[in-house]
Amino acid sequence: MSPCVLSMPGNVPRAAAMAATLGCEAVAIEVHRFPDGESSLTISVNLAHRDVAIVCTLDRPNDKFTELLLAAELARDLGAASVGLIAPYLAYMRQDIRFNPGESVTAKYFSNLVSTHFDWLVTADPHLHRIATLETVYRIPAIAVPAAPAIGDWIVRHIKQAWLIGPDEESRQWVAEVAKISGAPFMVLEKVRRGDHDVAVTAAQAEWLNHRTPVIVDDIASTARTLIAAISAVVAAGGIKPVCIVVHAVFAGDAFADLKAAGADQVISCNTVAHPSNAISLDADLAAAAARLLEKMAVRRR
Ligand code: R5P
Repeated sequence: MSPCVLSMPGNVPRAAAMAATLGCEAVAIEVHRFPDGESSLTISVNLAHRDVAIVCTLDRPNDKFTELLLAAELARDLGAASVGLIAPYLAYMRQDIRFNPGESVTAKYFSNLVSTHFDWLVTADPHLHRIATLETVYRIPAIAVPAAPAIGDWIVRHIKQAWLIGPDEESRQWVAEVAKISGAPFMVLEKVRRGDHDVAVTAAQAEWLNHRTPVIVDDIASTARTLIAAISAVVAAGGIKPVCIVVHAVFAGDAFADLKAAGADQVISCNTVAHPSNAISLDADLAAAAARLLEKMAVRRR
C-alpha cells in the first residue's frame, strides 16, 4: 500500500504540500484535549502495513512532544509498518554539551526519545555546531535538508548586490554555502553571548557597506538578540539597514517586533516554523528527503 502522510495540529498545509510531492494521501490527526490536560488522538484512515510519515515542526517543543509521541504509538497500534518523523524545525539541538556542572545535555536526551519512537527522521538545517552530523546523535536514519540552495536562489532573485553577513562563527557553515550558491561575497562577525538576552556583535569598519546591500543570514532567530546586535554592528560599520534571512523563525515573545524596531529592512524566513516572515518554502525538499527514507523502509522489508 502507498505511504501515508499524517499531520499533527498546526502542520496541515505543509503536510498537504509534502504529500502532493510524494504522490500520497495526507491525513490530519485529530486531537481532543480533556479538561484535565490529557489528550486523545484519532487517525481516521487504515494504516495497516503502510509506511507512515508524521509531520510536526518542533518549535515550542514542550507543548507538542507528548502528543507527537502518542501519535507515533497510535500509528504503530493501528498497524503501520514504519513510522518516520518530518520535523521541519528540530528542537533541542543547541544544548549539545554540559556548559555547567550538573546541567543536562538535552540534545542527546531528546535524540534518544525521538530515536526510540520513530524509524527515521527528516529535518531542515538542524543546529549542528559541536555535533558533526545528525546521525551522530540520532540512532535512526536521518537526513538534514540544507536550506542554503533555496535561500541562495531567493537572494539571486530579490537582491541585486548582496553582501552576506554571518553574525557569529557558528553561522559560517550556512552563510558560506549561501554565498557559494548566490555568488555574493560574505563575511562573519564576532559575537559574545553573556545571557539569553545579552548579546554583543562587532564588525570592522568596511568600505563595501556603502555600495552593497548587507544581508544577515542565520539559522535560528529565537530572542532575535543575535540579529539585533548584528544590525547595530553593520550600521555602526557604515552599512545601510540590512535584510535579515533566517531558516527557522522561532521568534520567542516579542522578538519579531523588537527586530523590526531595531531597523531590519526586511525579515525573510523559510517556512519551517509558520510565521508572517515566511517567504521561502522547503516543503518539496523535505518531501524529497522523506521519499528516500520511505523507500529505504520498503527495501528493508523486501
Ligand atoms: C547560535 O548559535 C545560533 O546560530 C543563532 O545565532 C542563535 O541561536 C540565535 O539566537 P537568538 O535569536 O536568541 O539570539
